[in-house]
Amino acid sequence: MQSLIIFASGNGSNAQAIISYFKEGKDVEISLIVSNKSDAGVLQIANEENIPSLILTKAELSSADTLERLQTFKPTLIVLAGFLLKIPASFVAAFPRKIINIHPALLPSFGGKGMWGHHVHQAVIDAQETQSGITIHTIDEVYDRGEILLQARCEVLPTDDASSLAAKVQKLEHYFFPRTLDFLLQA
Ligand code: GRF
Repeated sequence: MQSLIIFASGNGSNAQAIISYFKEGKDVEISLIVSNKSDAGVLQIANEENIPSLILTKAELSSADTLERLQTFKPTLIVLAGFLLKIPASFVAAFPRKIINIHPALLPSFGGKGMWGHHVHQAVIDAQETQSGITIHTIDEVYDRGEILLQARCEVLPTDDASSLAAKVQKLEHYFFPRTLDFLLQA
């Protein structure tokens, strides 16, 4: 049985897509959901799905105890599905190439500090881009860097605003994120 740990700070729609995808006939367990926000929607999902969850402060995230605790789950991959805190270098060192992030735009454009959620989509609209999409990549010590594993694109129409673009991007995320993880788990 392979094990995934999901980190998320928000609604958890990507976490839900991953949980649902791996539920049927796959030898993969979502062993833990980690959040830095006690009111994050993803914690409700963890509850409904009977998945253990852990709420960590920023300081706790960087502690050696936390790292040790996560290692007890023997994760095959650590999945960042909208996790807003920077992952400490100690994690990157402990799980080399095993921490996978999804970014709601086509990196290297529209990445970096402050580029999350609506800010990303608004920046894409403001730049009058004709395409946006998703980037699934490994994590290293720098925000939104790391090796790009997969990108998928959608059109940005002149009539789009940040909300309609977010909906298009989310559709790509929910389809491609679980399947990319599955592919990585089989590699
Ligand atoms: C997604 O758009 C993801 O790309 C980004 O954060 C968002 C999380 O959304 N990193 P949700 O909580 O999975 O709905």
